[in-house]
Amino acid sequence: MSRPATDAISVQEIEHRLKAITSVRLKKDEPMSAHTSMGVGGPARWFVEVHDLEALKHTLEILKSSGERWMMLGGGSNTLFCDAGYNGAIVYLGKGFREIRLGETPDTIVAGAAASLSGIMNFAKRHGLAGAEFCAGIPGVLGGALAGNAGTAAGEICPLADSVEVLDSSGQIKTRKRGEFEYSYRHSRLREDVILGATLRLKPDAAEAIETRIAQSLSKRFEQPIGERSAGCMFKNPPGDFAGRLIDCAGLKGLRIGNVSVSDKHANFMINEGKATAADILKLMDEVRERVKSATGTELESEVRVIS
Ligand code: EPU
Repeated sequence: MSRPATDAISVQEIEHRLKAITSVRLKKDEPMSAHTSMGVGGPARWFVEVHDLEALKHTLEILKSSGERWMMLGGGSNTLFCDAGYNGAIVYLGKGFREIRLGETPDTIVAGAAASLSGIMNFAKRHGLAGAEFCAGIPGVLGGALAGNAGTAAGEICPLADSVEVLDSSGQIKTRKRGEFEYSYRHSRLREDVILGATLRLKPDAAEAIETRIAQSLSKRFEQPIGERSAGCMFKNPPGDFAGRLIDCAGLKGLRIGNVSVSDKHANFMINEGKATAADILKLMDEVRERVKSATGTELESEVRVIS
């Protein structure tokens, strides 16, 4: 893996500068298997946990000015790192980005990018606010969810957001307003920015009605291999069809390469059965893609972000 030239600043100097920032926790050669729900992925050169906005800005200034490779990581539930790891810096938002509170009007919630979707949903429920029930059982955090417009058949996250606070590519704080997110199925333009947090607009509703919809969302989850090491759905649903249905129809449930298998419970999930490698997962994804293509003519597209 090649790294862009860092001109005047050596790797040691970058490390020295990152370590000097207050509210930063720096780890070297951190295994990405520890930060992804699938539990695979080799070491990142640096894992930079930033606890407040100043630390984040400072970290990004250092990484950008040095030409070092970097990326933001959210909950790690939709990301697959290769076995060789990541030759750069993984930036991870810590406790200063986890706040969840009521907004200026009683039907809005303000949450940090590192707030969990389940935390947001529970907060909304406690305040009699509806709209986030589809989040029940979805792992991950608000920033990652907004970047990929996470959702289920019952709802998606981007339409809930009134505004999203970001750092743009020049490091300026900007507010992206509803209408500017350009979201579609499992995609949004917010991915181009570093997401800091958002104001979500919900609807007041009776507690029992909210509870019922949460229970419905959770019951959907019981059709999935919860509690196993997976990255959720591996492939996007193709227009007008379902990846899970196609993989199932192609007879691929239980198909295995090394320590990774296609779930017997829901065919669009792959399970790390213990010591799976990223290489095994990528091979199994290719195999599934090929077999579904030849059985049904449909080309499946990865939903999981593969980082090599
Ligand atoms: N199906 C099969 N066999 C299977 C799995 C599904 O025949 O092994 C059929 C089902 O019977 C159903 C159809 O495929 O007719 C769709 O299945 P399901 O209702 O489970 O929904 P999905 O489209 O597979 C989507 C999201 C999930 C989300 C569920 C619940 C995508 C790619 N997946 O799954 O999200 O949990 O709806 O609403 O959009 C994720 O994104 O990681 C994820 C898990």
